[in-house]
Parts: sequence; structure tokens; C-alpha cells
Amino acid sequence: MKNISVIGSGTMGNGIAHTFAQFGYQVTLVDVSDNALSRALGTIERNLDRQVNKGTLSKAEKAGILSNITVFTDLEQGVANADLVVEAATENLELKLKLFKDLDTFARPGVILASNTSSISITRIASATNRGDKVIGMHFMNPVPVMKLVEVIRGYATSDATTAVVMELSEKLEKSPVEVNDYPGFVANRILMPMINEAVFTLHEGVAGVTEIDNVMKMGMAHPMGPLQLADFIGLDVCLAILRVLHEGFGNPKYAPCPLLVNMVAAGCKGIKTGEGFYQYTEGSKELKIANKFSR
Ligand code: CAA
Repeated sequence: MKNISVIGSGTMGNGIAHTFAQFGYQVTLVDVSDNALSRALGTIERNLDRQVNKGTLSKAEKAGILSNITVFTDLEQGVANADLVVEAATENLELKLKLFKDLDTFARPGVILASNTSSISITRIASATNRGDKVIGMHFMNPVPVMKLVEVIRGYATSDATTAVVMELSEKLEKSPVEVNDYPGFVANRILMPMINEAVFTLHEGVAGVTEIDNVMKMGMAHPMGPLQLADFIGLDVCLAILRVLHEGFGNPKYAPCPLLVNMVAAGCKGIKTGEGFYQYTEGSKELKIANKFSR
């Protein structure tokens, strides 16, 4: 397996492309616009620079990694030579169903089609193809070059052979793959999102402020980020969408999203990507400043 196509060049897609390219795979990165692709290449270059500055990569290795990535705006061309496809497009069911139908047409027969979805059913995605045994979840964590976990999700029809290939491939990327079954939120988000939602309820009910809630989890439970900072990092819209999948999928009110989270997303306060969530972000600054709405 040598040629990997990554579909979608946002935060997760560019991190996945970066990681495969770093381990010597030829990556074709596909997105709908040239703008998105040049932004992604810029991000990959900046993230490789972090590694160069740390001394974990040489400048020559960085150049080699970048030369392993080719970009395409045409899906058919982008997957023509793929030995495996990893889809990391927007988290939207209709979009993914359409994409997988097209991938099934354009990718060579027998090629594994993986999705980086954080919560959409792999079984449902597979139903858009005629190769359900070869459709699987390959859920990387953000930032992809740093985080060790790949949650490998078996859909209803995913074969043992497909699972074995993806587990082995993840290990070649020096990740720690964990095999799980396809139920709402899989494992990572079924556990993470209720924690984040509970942190938002704790804030909403005035039990404690943003810093206090995050500090309890950072200092008391050794989490690298508190749950509210992590929610901003993931994107509040993404957190809300995943909670809705859990709520609908299990039909259990314990997953109902906190009304404060719903309001923040409706107001366009989606975390780092919009400059404001529970904290407020300034380009180029690492300072963690509480958003005005929550400063007291
Ligand atoms: N690419 C390459 N390297 C990166 C990077 C990137 N995008 N981002 C950070 N790094 C590297 C840095 O160079 C640094 O390297 P060293 O350890 O060698 O020094 C290291 O990562 C730490 O980075 P920083 O010093 O800038 O910052 P930090 O110490 O605050 O760590 C963090 C940043 C790794 C993001 C850390 O805060 C963390 O682990 N946060 C939690 C992340 C998390 O929980 N992710 C999962 C989110 S959930 C998800 O992704 C799935 C979902 O479905 C919602």
C-alpha cells in the first residue's frame, strides 16, 4: 500500500495528509477549491516547521514530506491510483452518502474506503456503496500528527480482512489503533461529549466559572486542556452535532445538549475557528483569555 487519497483538506484532512506523507506514503489531497488546498498546504508546512524547530525533523525531511503530497480538485482524478481512501470532509450525512457513492464508482474495485467521521454511522455510509465489507471508520484525533489514537470503527458489514489492514496501517503511522463497533459516538465521543456537555451545564447553572471548571479537570484529572477549552478547540458546532447524534441515536435525554451550547452555536461563537467560544482568541497569541460573556 503506497498511494493514499485524503478527501477534504480542513483541520483533520490536512493533519491526516501530513501524517501519511511523513511516513513515506504518496498522498493525493482532494478538496473542492484551489483556495482550500493552498490553505491546507500552508498549514501542513507550518506544522512541519514546528517539528523542524523541535529538531525532530530536518529541513530536507520536511521538503521530502511536502513533495509526497499532490493536490487535486477533481475527485475522480484524485482517487484514480489510490490504494486506500480516507474521507475527512464536512460532517454532513447527505454529503458523505454522495461522496461514498462517487468514491465507490471512481476508486478501483477492492480499495478500502475509510471515513474519519467523528460520529456518523459507518454502516449508513457503507450503504451508499457496493463494497460494504471494505468501508470502515478511521477516526484520527486532532492534532493528527501528535495524537496517538486511531479509533478503528467496524461497520455492520466491515470484514475482518479490512479491519486487519487498517489496524496494521495505523501502526505503520506509529499510532495506537483501537478497534470498536459502530454505535452512536463510537467510544471516543460517547464518553468525551457528555463530559463536555456537563461542563457547559456546570457553567450555565453558575456552579463555577470557565477557568475554575477547566482548572478542576486540568489540575485534578491531569487533562492537558479543560473541557471548555477542548470544546473550543474541537469546535462548538462539532460538539453540538455529535451530541445530537448521541441524543437521537440512543433516544436518551441524558445526551440532550445544554441550551447554552445551542445558543453559542446559533450566535456564531464556535470556538477557536470563529475567534470566540468560552475563550477569546487572537491570531498569533497563545494567551488564554476568557470571552467577555463569561468574565466576572
Ligand atoms: N502538528 C504537528 N505538531 C504539533 C501540532 C500540529 N498540528 N500541534 C502541536 N504540535 C506539537 C508541538 O510541536 C509540540 O511538540 P513537542 O511535544 O515535541 O514539544 C507538542 O505538539 C505540544 O504542542 P504545544 O507546545 O504547542 O502545545 P501544548 O503543549 O499545549 O499541546 C496539544 C497542544 C497537543 C493540542 C495539547 O494541548 C493536547 O493534547 N490537547 C488535547 C487534545 C485532544 O484532546 N484532542 C482530541 C480532540 S477530540 C478529536 O479530535 C476527535 C473528535 O471526534 C471530536
